Amino acid sequence: VVLNSFNLKNKVAVITGGAGLLGRKHAEAILEANGRVALIDVNETRLNEVANELESKHGKNMVATFKVDITQKEAVQSSLEQIKKIFGNAPQILINNAAIDPKFDKSKTDKPGSRLENFSVDQWNMEISVGLTGSLICAQVFGHEMAKAGSGVILNVASDLGVVAPDQRIYRQEGLAEDMQNVKPVTYSVIKHGLIGLTKYIATYWAKQGVRCNAFAPGGVFNDHPDAFVQKLTNLIPLGRMAHKDEYKGAILFLVSDASSYMNGATLNMDGGRSVW
Ligand SMILES: NC(=O)c1ccc[n+]([C@@H]2O[C@H](COP(=O)([O-])OP(=O)(O)OC[C@H]3O[C@@H](n4cnc5c(N)ncnc54)[C@H](O)[C@@H]3O)[C@@H](O)[C@H]2O)c1
Repeated sequence: VVLNSFNLKNKVAVITGGAGLLGRKHAEAILEANGRVALIDVNETRLNEVANELESKHGKNMVATFKVDITQKEAVQSSLEQIKKIFGNAPQILINNAAIDPKFDKSKTDKPGSRLENFSVDQWNMEISVGLTGSLICAQVFGHEMAKAGSGVILNVASDLGVVAPDQRIYRQEGLAEDMQNVKPVTYSVIKHGLIGLTKYIATYWAKQGVRCNAFAPGGVFNDHPDAFVQKLTNLIPLGRMAHKDEYKGAILFLVSDASSYMNGATLNMDGGRSVW
């Protein structure tokens, strides 16, 4: 029966950025398919909130949380040891989902730091260290364990902006000079394209050890953005709307379960058609 291939009974999934908007949705998808989740995040308050919510629905022994900075390899390594103790086995699923959500600086006087020519190397290094280096570290620690065990799945959460360039026109503000306009930062493109490269590398590197690796490229999720922005963005999307935050759960479950057992090194675009226009 095909539905059985979606069942995650006896599986443990690590979700980085597990306290964020989508991390908790990925967790719901796994729990609803009978899997258990280990949520990793730097935001302890939100981590506890999310864990309480999930535990009240799915049971205390199904969820564990770890306040870990994924840029610190020793901390990630020690979370692996704790996961083994808590759940009795190493995780068979890793979702590299954590990211720095870049905030536009709202100052009207300085030249916006988001612009390519002004972008600081410190900001570049900080964002890359989470989005790319953090994903590498988690793949090293958890992926190596999967390779030793002979099976596992790694899913790297990229973005539609890992497939196409940002259309900077949607971020423009009327009446501002060109050099004062904020833009989607270069790091976002580099990290998300980089994750697709990391995906292909790992997909071939550990294939013989039974570890699959794929990328997921979702489009923007509606989260109370201003109307004017939503209008400009949805003009770029054939389906004419942003995603709902629950709409990726099916794809996540497909990608981390045996339902996608012959999928390896692929990128699944799920963006309302934005990247084909
Ligand atoms: N929300 C969207 O519209 C959208 C669209 C496309 C892709 N994505 C991607 O989906 C993923 C999740 O997005 P989201 O909207 O839930 O973001 P979010 O900002 O709500 O969650 C990201 C989480 O990562 C955590 N984090 C940051 N640095 C960390 C570190 N060093 N170690 C551990 N955790 C760390 C944050 O604390 C946060 O809880 C991201 O990779 C994002 O780029 C999101």
